[in-house]
Amino acid sequence: MSTRSDTLFERFLAPVFRTFLINQDEMQQLYKSIDWEAASHRLSNPALTYPAYYKEQNFHGIQGGYLTIGAAVSYDPITRYALPPGENLVRQSLMDGIQTQPRRILDLGCGTGSSTLLLKQKFPKAEVIGLDLSPYMLVAAEQKAQKAGIEIQWRHNQAERTGFPDASFDLVTASLLFHETPVAIAKAILRESYRLLTVGGEVLILDGSQRSLRQAEWLTNIFEEPYIQDYAAGSVDAWMGAAGFGDVRTQDVWLLHQLTRGVKPLSQSVKFSTVEQPEIRDAAWAAG
Ligand SMILES: C[S@@+](CC[C@H](N)C(=O)[O-])C[C@H]1O[C@@H](n2cnc3c(N)ncnc32)[C@H](O)[C@@H]1O
Repeated sequence: MSTRSDTLFERFLAPVFRTFLINQDEMQQLYKSIDWEAASHRLSNPALTYPAYYKEQNFHGIQGGYLTIGAAVSYDPITRYALPPGENLVRQSLMDGIQTQPRRILDLGCGTGSSTLLLKQKFPKAEVIGLDLSPYMLVAAEQKAQKAGIEIQWRHNQAERTGFPDASFDLVTASLLFHETPVAIAKAILRESYRLLTVGGEVLILDGSQRSLRQAEWLTNIFEEPYIQDYAAGSVDAWMGAAGFGDVRTQDVWLLHQLTRGVKPLSQSVKFSTVEQPEIRDAAWAAG
């Protein structure tokens, strides 16, 4: 795995991780158990062009970011320690926040599929799709699902431009994605989620607590996270409302994380019965 030597993470934390914490055997096993070239080729979307904000940035000190096998094999062993008080507890908060019984679920920026697998386990009858920009992360996700005997579809695409039809899901989730994208992309992902959801469908975004991150700037400097400070300065709550969602609410998750949930409301046209009341429809259009 090619890493940078000039980040705080690489200078101070990576040696500790490598020596004491990261399960090297687990990484080696995963690396050796897959024909990465063939599998990533099979899962790759040939029509996809990587956006610059993604392909030109390193994440977590790894050169090439998520577009590397190294990122895919090291992600789970590192993430285990990166979500205090415990990865399972934090991910479970997302599962507990779901208030409907979805039949079609889309997990955006699914990575190695840790949350995607939990979604399928919670809703075994639902059709579950995990989408990510990295074919290598999808390869690791696919293998994890196969080992667990869980059927999930994996898609290589952009969360802000998924290519799925309007109103084709009743639950859209994203865990640990927004702090890794520019704010404009996080907002675009919420608009895309709105488009993808049926009326009454839910969106749930699990990520770092913006309030806590604002108070711990030193923490955001440790890991190489190019967009996390802009993420911390914003409000997922406000972005979700601006995308059109109703009943928007953010709750703290173990102080360091947050879960924001919103519901796609009845559209203006339905609320105003625009077909029968053209004067209201025209006013709504004029008001934008
Ligand atoms: C920190 S990981 C989170 C993975 C997973 N959701 C989890 O909870 O462990 C962020 C993931 O988002 C993906 N990603 C970043 N920007 C994306 C975008 N615009 N569209 C789709 N995936 C994206 C990365 O490739 C990476 O796999």
